[in-house]
Amino acid sequence: MSSRDQRDAANELPNQPAARLAWVIQAPTQQELKRRYDLWARCYDADIGQPEDYLAPLETAKVAKVHLRPNARILDAGAGTGLSGQALQGAGFTDLTGLDFARDMLAAAAAKGIYKETIVADLSQQTALEDHAFDAVVTVGTTSQIPAESLRDYVRVTQPGGKVIVANWVEAWVERGYAAIQADFERQGRLALIEKGEPFAALPTTDPEIIYEIWVFEVLR
Ligand SMILES: C[S@@+](CC[C@H](N)C(=O)[O-])C[C@H]1O[C@@H](n2cnc3c(N)ncnc32)[C@H](O)[C@@H]1O
Repeated sequence: MSSRDQRDAANELPNQPAARLAWVIQAPTQQELKRRYDLWARCYDADIGQPEDYLAPLETAKVAKVHLRPNARILDAGAGTGLSGQALQGAGFTDLTGLDFARDMLAAAAAKGIYKETIVADLSQQTALEDHAFDAVVTVGTTSQIPAESLRDYVRVTQPGGKVIVANWVEAWVERGYAAIQADFERQGRLALIEKGEPFAALPTTDPEIIYEIWVFEVLR
């Protein structure tokens, strides 16, 4: 990026954390969402990186600890700058792969040295990841943004008996079509919802109306 481009990008970012969050959430297309995340990458952690401002990563890592071995191969889908991976590492997990479509977000994640591998890929379509390559997929803060088709890939890349753990904005689960794909898998006997956590405000300081629940699925086959 030229210094002029950098100045323009900085000018375009809204100047308060809550406004930046809203600006990203309201991106009209996936392409624009990716672009806005890449701009937000420079201050995402400063905006919501404190555990007390963004509870979802730590809460998800606690649940993962109950269900997964420390050496489980975990795909952090929509890893962003790695806040979710940091929480998983803090809970003792050692085999983390981070995937995201926003290069600058993922570059910040890679720089933290917590992932064995980082992969730039778009979860709105089937990825090049191998079938059953992971013991678990963990995804934090993504269901309002990543298209529901991603659930098909999460199930495909997870080992039978493995888990898909979602820090879920429940409203988005239904509205964006995840619930319909979940029902499809359940009918086929491929997926079972085995735990639903209590609702909590995921971003209590920037937007207390965003309510998450942590859901754990088992991939049956
Ligand atoms: C709210 S952030 C969550 C990041 C991280 N998991 C966390 O909890 O801080 C959502 C992430 O999903 C990524 N994302 C959105 N749509 C995507 C897509 N179609 N494919 C891959 N990543 C996507 C964004 O780039 C962003 O980094």
